[in-house]
Order: sequence, then structure tokens, then C-alpha cells
Amino acid sequence: MKVLVATEKPFAKVAIDGIKNVIDAAGYELALLEKYTEKAQLLEAVADADAIIIRSDIVDAEVIAAAKNLKIVVRAGAGYDNVDLQAASAAGVCVMNTPGQNANAVAELALGMMVYGVRNLYNGTSGTELMGKKLGIHAYGNVGRNVARIAKGFGMEIYAYDAFCPKEVIEQDGVTALNSVEELYSTCQVVSLHIPATAETKNSINYDLLNKMPKGAMLVNTARKEVINETEVIKLMEDRTDFRYMTDIMPATHAEFAEKFAGRYFSTPKKMGAQTAEANINAGIAAANQIVGFLRDGINRFQVNK
Ligand code: 3PG
Repeated sequence: MKVLVATEKPFAKVAIDGIKNVIDAAGYELALLEKYTEKAQLLEAVADADAIIIRSDIVDAEVIAAAKNLKIVVRAGAGYDNVDLQAASAAGVCVMNTPGQNANAVAELALGMMVYGVRNLYNGTSGTELMGKKLGIHAYGNVGRNVARIAKGFGMEIYAYDAFCPKEVIEQDGVTALNSVEELYSTCQVVSLHIPATAETKNSINYDLLNKMPKGAMLVNTARKEVINETEVIKLMEDRTDFRYMTDIMPATHAEFAEKFAGRYFSTPKKMGAQTAEANINAGIAAANQIVGFLRDGINRFQVNK
């Protein structure tokens, strides 16, 4: 069995070593395609792969068709909007993610971006503190929970809204569960996004929603750029000079944001929420173990295209 790690944004070497140990112990072969720049390279590399480990790499119908031996794709991470689930199912390919494995890394970055934002991008001027501010966690999954845990240490008042997570689960963590997205945004000065990119959420963070936020508002996005209506966020930031946007996923219109909103807009050059040795090790080794469990014992826990 051949397991391909195809990562345009590579894992830390220590994580690759861990993946290799798992694959070697199973008697499988490991192949690496890192930092590739052309889709053709991926199409060639998948040709004889039985299993693939990816990150945000695009696995569309063409990639699946090119992978004649493919049985399983594991997205080492949370969001699987980069995989064509229908094409995978049609080809009999199992798709999994590794939920929770990189959640702390993303949550730590979200809090880091909050501090960076309220301290005026460390430009030497007087900023504000997070203590006592109302934080809204938009979606209470693995990352949202970790954000709540860390934000408590900052002394923030924590609120959350999640359409799917029961209120009792949220409130067990000492977080106030609100009834609607609108209520979350009108209550909180800082909102941290943790929603996946789906047909329902795409473009859903728009002018009307963000304009409900109180004065001194800040939006922190460590989720997906597709959920943001960029044109409307630009309009909102033009109308509201108090509004800040910190993002780990560079907008398509980054140049416009950077030019118009210097000092209250920041984007990482490349999504780095999950770029820690620990998260790479956790997600990468979990992916390798899930592949072995599936190929050897048929274990399909974490399959997302059932
Ligand atoms: C995820 O969905 O797990 C995060 O967005 C991290 O993505 P990455 O593995 O491409 O950094």
C-alpha cells in the first residue's frame, strides 16, 4: 500500500518523521509531495497512491479520477471544503478529517490576533485590553471551545452561538449561549469566527451583521475567507472607522484592505493557524493512524462522506 503525503504547505519535519513511523510499522510505503506549485504534479503523484494525506490541498474530481488505486483521503485538519465529497463517494473513496487535532494551535493564534488588534498592531500607541471585553465565539466546535478556555484566562466575558451545538454543552464551559447570530454580534465587541465554509455560510458575514457590533468592534477570522462578504466588509470599514479586521486567511481583495485600513486590518501572508509542530504532529500522525485503521481493519470513524 502506498500512502502519499501531498502538502502544498508542508508539515514540520518532526511530524513527517512521526507519520513515517506509523506507515513503516504497518508495512506500507510513504511518498512525499511537498511545496508543489502545479496541479499537474499532484495529478502525477496520486496516480499510484492507495491513500493520501492532505491539508488545504484541493482534491477535486480530476484528482480523484487520476488516482486509480485510491481508497482513502484524510484531510489532516478540520475543514474539508477542499475535497469534492461527491466525486469521492462516486469513486468509492472514503474521506476523513482529524477533528480537534490542530484546534489548540488555531485557538492560540485567534487570541494572539486579538491582542495584536487591540494593541494597534504593536505600533507603539496606546491600545486597549481584552479583560472585561465581551467575546463572541461564532460556532462552538473544537476551535471555539479552545478559544473559550484561553479567553477565560484573559478575563473576557464569553458568549457563543452555534446552530448545532446544544446550549447545555456551551454553558457547561461557563460560556453564555445566545439564541441567534444577530444576538451574538450585537452583544460582542470582539467576534471570533469558527464556522466552516458551506453553501449556507459562504458570504454570510456581511455588512448588516457586522454593523450590529458595538463601538470598538473587532472581527477575528481564523476560519475561512469564503464566509466573508469582502465587498461589504470593505464598505463597513469605510463607514465605521472603529472597526478592525484581523484575518489568518488572506482576502482576495487584500491589497484594497491593506491600503484603505492601515492600522486596523491585518492578514497573515499564508494561513498559519495550524502551523505549529504540535498541531502538525497531532493531525499528521492521527491521519496516518486513521489510514492504517481503515485499510487494515475497516475502521471508518471520522469519515465525512458517509
Ligand atoms: C483546518 O481546517 O484544519 C485549518 O484551517 C488548518 O488548515 P491547514 O492544515 O491548511 O493549515
